[in-house]
Amino acid sequence: MKIIKTGSYEELSARTADLLAAQITLKPDCLLGLATGSSPIGTYQELVRRHDAGQLDFSRVRTVNLDEYCGLGGDDDQSYRYFMNMHLFSKVNIALEHTQVPNGKAADMEAECSRYDTLLESCGQPDIQLLGIGHDGHIAFNEPADSFPVGTHIVDLEEETVAANARFFKNADDVPKKAITMGIRNIMLAKKIVLIACDEQKRDIVNKALFGPVTPRVPASILQLHADLTVVLHNVL
Ligand code: GLP
Repeated sequence: MKIIKTGSYEELSARTADLLAAQITLKPDCLLGLATGSSPIGTYQELVRRHDAGQLDFSRVRTVNLDEYCGLGGDDDQSYRYFMNMHLFSKVNIALEHTQVPNGKAADMEAECSRYDTLLESCGQPDIQLLGIGHDGHIAFNEPADSFPVGTHIVDLEEETVAANARFFKNADDVPKKAITMGIRNIMLAKKIVLIACDEQKRDIVNKALFGPVTPRVPASILQLHADLTVVLHNVL
C-alpha cells in the first residue's frame, strides 16, 4: 500500500487526477472505474481542467461506475448517473455510450445485477478504480456485513449511510433506502485501486480500514489485500 498525505483538498484532488491522467495518457483506451460522493468532485474538476487545457483526451476512454440508488433514473438529479454526467462526462470528450452506470430504475433489479456483472466481465479488468469510503467503512455501497459480497447486488443501506447522504437531498425522507452496487470481487479485480478520503470524521474508520483486521464488518479493509493500492488522504491520518 502506498499512502500519499496531502496538505489540502485541492492537493488531494490534483494528486488523484495525476494518477487517472497518467493512466489515460499511457493507455488512451483504458477502462476507468469511477466513484461518486463528494470526495471525488475536485478530482473530476481537475480532470476537466486538464481536458480543457488540451492535456487529456477521453475519446477512447471507457468507464464503469460502482453503484446507483434503486428507484432513481438517470434524469433524476440525485442519481449517480446524473452526478457523473454533470461532473465529468458532459464536460470532456467522452462518448456517453462508453460510460456505464447501473440502472437504478430497471423493472427487474435482480436481472439488472446480472446484466451489470455480465457487462463488467465483457469490459475486462478496470485499469484503475477510484474509490471513496463511507463513514461505516463501506466502499461503493458494500455495507458492513457477515461476509464480503462477491458480485453486483442490491443492498439495504445502513441508517448511517442514509443520514450521511441526506445532505445531497432536499428532504431526508427522499434518500433511497436501497442501492445497486458492484460487489467486492468486482472492485478487487481492478489492476490498480486509488482510495481517497478527506473528511476528519473518517479518521477512525480510515485507520481501521488501512491498519485494522481485514473483516467484512469494515468492508474497505479488504483493500489491504490488493496488490496495487494507493491511498490519497487529507485531514484523515
Ligand atoms: C456513497 C457512495 C460511495 C462513497 C461514499 C462516501 O455512499 N456510494 O461510493 O465513497 O458515499 O461519500 P463522500 O465522499 O461524500 O463522503
